[in-house]
Amino acid sequence: MVVISPRFSRIFACLLACAQACIAKPTVDNQITMLENSNSPLIQYPTQFTQNIVPKPIHSHNDYWRDVPLFTALSLGVASVEADVWLMNGTLFVGHELAALTPARTFESLYINPLVTIIEGQNPKDQFTTNQTGINGVFDMAGTVPLQLLVDIKTDGVEALPFILKAMDPLRQRGFLTTFANGNLTEGAITVVGTGNSPLEQVKALSPRDYFFDAPLTQLNDTSLNTTFDITLSPLASTDYGPAIGWSGIGNISETQRNNIITLVDMAHSLGIRSRFWDTPGWPIHARDAIWQELLNDGSDWLNADDLEAASSF
Ligand SMILES: *[C@@H]1O[C@H](CO)[C@@H](O)[C@H](O)[C@H]1NC(C)=O
Ligand SMILES: *[C@@H]1O[C@H](CO)[C@@H](O)[C@H](O)[C@H]1NC(C)=O
Ligand SMILES: *[C@@H]1O[C@H](CO)[C@@H](O)[C@H](O)[C@H]1NC(C)=O
Ligand SMILES: *[C@@H]1O[C@H](CO)[C@@H](O)[C@H](O)[C@H]1NC(C)=O
Ligand SMILES: *[C@@H]1O[C@H](CO)[C@@H](O)[C@H](O)[C@H]1NC(C)=O
Ligand SMILES: *[C@@H]1O[C@H](CO)[C@@H](O)[C@H](O)[C@H]1NC(C)=O
Repeated sequence: MVVISPRFSRIFACLLACAQACIAKPTVDNQITMLENSNSPLIQYPTQFTQNIVPKPIHSHNDYWRDVPLFTALSLGVASVEADVWLMNGTLFVGHELAALTPARTFESLYINPLVTIIEGQNPKDQFTTNQTGINGVFDMAGTVPLQLLVDIKTDGVEALPFILKAMDPLRQRGFLTTFANGNLTEGAITVVGTGNSPLEQVKALSPRDYFFDAPLTQLNDTSLNTTFDITLSPLASTDYGPAIGWSGIGNISETQRNNIITLVDMAHSLGIRSRFWDTPGWPIHARDAIWQELLNDGSDWLNADDLEAASSF
């Protein structure tokens, strides 16, 4: 039996590939195959992390349930992710309920640290970028589309907010955050929006502000809230779909229900705010799809999704 050393078989494989390349007809397909099989610098560039991924206005509800939090959503072009955050003993843990928390899964480890790495990777510092002023976002195909990070505070909001703001420091110091300062709103690579127990008055008082407030979509003009909702406070307004609209997605939507959607969406848009209906029915599939279609037809902005693959191919 002939024993071929690994080194020899590597050399042999290389010679074979070269020979094949020489005898292959110079068609465009052959050229593509050759380049793809090579390590040629001609097909490499620094910001390939999200190459060919088109960002979509989809919100990844309970993102930390995905196979890989954050990354699964990004791989599907999902431009908004949500982390449920619990402050315990000074640490921000991420999970849907107490039983789901682990010491390893924190706001920093699952979201802040990976985002720093990703955005630094999208912004190489070299001789070509010395004069560039803006920061590229996570999506290579659409560098100006920010990633929306929803922070759903599960414990006391007034207590948790300072810890969250501190955890955001690595993103803040690098200039990656959408910020409202001195009357100017500057869009960054990441827009952080507080929801859940996020404390409205404390968020309103932030100056500069890089933690925004998920406004109540059905109460944008409710004077009892003593708040002027606009894009400098709330890039997003949300409401629970069931109580606000109620259509099951089966049979025809009524004119009243459709008008309710349009009225809410239009009011948000008149303030420069994007709308999101959460807890839309997920089943049966045709009902889920009918509701998504209706919301998009009526101008709503974010699809709230548990099944990201379904939403991204919708
Ligand atoms: C919080 O600290 C107390 C006292 O050290 C400890 O008993 C408890 O297990 C800690 N809880 C968590 C979630 O780490
Ligand atoms: C950056 O700006 C300087 C000064 O205007 C210019 O000389 C240089 O060529 C620019 N570099 C690039 C990569 O555009
Ligand atoms: C805010 O934006 C205006 C218009 O672009 C600019 O003139 C002003 O200097 C900015 N203010 C600050 C504090 O950056
Ligand atoms: C808010 O707007 C809705 C829809 O236009 C309207 O029906 C409602 O009366 C308004 N509420 C207040 C307090 O102005
Ligand atoms: C409304 O909010 C302002 C600023 O946040 C505060 O100074 C004022 O006391 C509030 N008024 C009421 C009636 O809550
Ligand atoms: C549902 O809407 C379609 C299209 O507008 C219409 O043709 C149909 O008659 C409606 N069905 C019912 C039960 O109203």
